[in-house]
Amino acid sequence: MKKTVNSTEQFTPPMKYLHWISAIVILWASITGLYIAFFEINPTIKSFILNFNVSITVVFIPIFCYRIYVRLKHGVPDAHSDFSPLEKKLAHIGHTLLYIVISIVLISGVLMMDNNISVFHLFTLSPLIQDLSITHFFEVLHLYTCRILAVLVTFHIIALIKHELMGRRILKKMI
Ligand code: HEM
Ligand code: HEM
Repeated sequence: MKKTVNSTEQFTPPMKYLHWISAIVILWASITGLYIAFFEINPTIKSFILNFNVSITVVFIPIFCYRIYVRLKHGVPDAHSDFSPLEKKLAHIGHTLLYIVISIVLISGVLMMDNNISVFHLFTLSPLIQDLSITHFFEVLHLYTCRILAVLVTFHIIALIKHELMGRRILKKMI
C-alpha cells in the first residue's frame, strides 16, 4: 500500500475528490445517525433521516470501493518531511484503520438489513440474510463500529489541527 505518487507531495485530483466526498457522507451519516440514536426526535423526521442515510450510504459503497482501488493503484504522496519515523508510522496506522473500519461499517450496514432497502425510491435491494439472529449480530457490529469510526475521525481532525498549528501545512496536500 506504500507507494510514492510524485515529488509535488499533493494527493492526485481523484484522491482529493474521493476524500472529500467520503468525508461529507461519513460526517453526515455519523452526526445525524448518532443524534437520532441518543436524542428524542420527531418520528417523521427520524424515519426520513434513516431512509436518506441508508440510501446515501448504499450509493457511497461503489464510490468507496473505487477510492480503495485508486489508493492501491496510485499510492499516496510521501509524509511531511518534518514527521519523525514514529509519526509516519502512526499516520499510516491511523489511515489504514480508517479504511478498515469504514469497510466494516458499510458491510455490516448492508448485512444487518432485514427489510427491503429502497435507494432513493429508484431501486430496491432485497435483504441478503434471512436469519434474524445473524442480522442482529451485524446490527450490533454496525452500531459499535460506527462509534469507533466517529472516534477515529475525531482523532484524524484533531491530529490535522495539531499539525497545522505546528506549522506543518498538511491540509494543502488534500485541497
Ligand atoms: C459509512 C457509512 C455509514 C455510517 C457512517 C453510518 C453511521 C451510522 C450511525 C452513527 C448510526 C447510529 C448508531 C447508534 O445507534 O449508535 C447508524 C445506524 C444505522 N445505520 Fe448506518 N452508517 C453507515 C452505513 C450504513 C449502511 C450501508 C446501511 C444499510 C444499508 C446503514 C443502516 C443503518 C440503520 C438501519 C441504522 C439504524 C440501526 C438501529 O437503530 O438499530 N448504515 N449508522
Ligand atoms: C469522515 C471524515 C474523514 C475521513 C473518513 C477521512 C479519511 C482520511 C483517510 C483514510 C486519509 C488517508 C488517505 C490515504 O493515505 O490514502 C485522509 C487523509 C487526509 N485527510 Fe481526511 N478524512 C476525513 C475528514 C477530513 C477532514 C474534515 C479534513 C480536514 C480538516 C481532512 C483532511 C485530510 C488531510 C489533509 C489528509 C492528508 C494527510 C496526510 O497526507 O498526512 N480529512 N483522510
